[in-house]
Amino acid sequence: MDDTPSQNCGAQSPSAKNTASPDPSPSQLVDAIIEDFPDHRPGTRPIHTIGIGVGGYFEASDIARNYCRAEHFGGQRVDVSVRFSNGSGSPVQHDGWNDVRGMATRFHLKNEAATDLIAMTLNGFFVRTTREFIDFTTAARQQPVKKETPWQKIWDMLQLKQPLRDPYPGQKESGDAGTLEYANAHPFAQLAVFQAGSIGAPVSYVRAAYHAVHTFIVTGEDGVRRPVRFAWKPVAGVCNTDPDAPPEDDYLQGELRERLARWPARFLLMMTIGESGDALDDPTVPWPAKRVRVVMGTLILDTVPADQQAAAEHISFNPWRLVDGIEPSNDPILLARRDAYEDSRKRRGGTACPFNRSGT
Ligand code: HEM
Repeated sequence: MDDTPSQNCGAQSPSAKNTASPDPSPSQLVDAIIEDFPDHRPGTRPIHTIGIGVGGYFEASDIARNYCRAEHFGGQRVDVSVRFSNGSGSPVQHDGWNDVRGMATRFHLKNEAATDLIAMTLNGFFVRTTREFIDFTTAARQQPVKKETPWQKIWDMLQLKQPLRDPYPGQKESGDAGTLEYANAHPFAQLAVFQAGSIGAPVSYVRAAYHAVHTFIVTGEDGVRRPVRFAWKPVAGVCNTDPDAPPEDDYLQGELRERLARWPARFLLMMTIGESGDALDDPTVPWPAKRVRVVMGTLILDTVPADQQAAAEHISFNPWRLVDGIEPSNDPILLARRDAYEDSRKRRGGTACPFNRSGT
């Protein structure tokens, strides 16, 4: 197997190349996340902790290979493993609460190779660098929740500040106040923080759109390289629960089991092509809406494996698990994720990356 850097997900951290750099280590990034969730349970993911694994397959569109020569865009049916998750790092399930959701997809390729695409329901990230990430996670520490009066909310809006969301019944702590404060002082964080503060809860994991956020560089069959961003669009459409009538706190996994027992769920994989001047290395900046988008294929999800330990809990996704035809951009957040996910994987005893020859 080709041992390109993008496949070697246990390799040296990009920031570690410069020993004089005070950039946080992968382990410090993971510690910073854990500090935001004091009820973190060792042996589980520090974030996106509650999740469910499902199975199915991906079929590329006829035009996909023109844009990307990666094996899963070749046209043949490719088996997939997908883990849907709630964004929180708390092990307590609160499906009905306002939260970002995750969708991590593994495409199973020939000769036991694989490639991953990790996406979430925000279309941008909070920060641009790992040092900002540490500041942001520090701001996001849990604090006792405050309920703002209607007058305070109006006063916030008059100052062009997003008002605080009302706490859910039984919710005692939240990181919302700190992240809003951070966003009010850091314009680059505002889009993601404001979206995250009002994103709500989907009626189903398969009724949400998921964005891979970073720019990747794809190479077509003709050798042309293009900067792109990927997103999953649910064929059934996006639909949230009624915020005034939040459902039970553990409906998402049951809903998915019942739904897939009746009928498969489908997503379209959309690829947006960047143009000159678009932000390639900054995941906080969205691209203009009028960019060309290509349907790269359809994902069909039809099973919920009985062994959820193997299908969801032990599996370890990594945005650097890439194959020929897709390269990472120089986005510092994307670079940092490679070793942070590997650090987290080791801590929780997840399945090792098949491309890492040291066997860690
Ligand atoms: C510096 C920035 C980031 C850090 C340090 C970070 C860290 C982590 C860690 C440690 C995990 C658990 C990994 C494991 O134990 O397997 C995780 C999971 C996850 N992250 Fe990030 N993350 C970052 C940015 C992002 C971004 C930009 C996205 C947007 C797509 C994202 C989406 C997810 C999702 C969906 C999961 C759950 C994956 C699964 O189901 O296994 N993260 N993150």
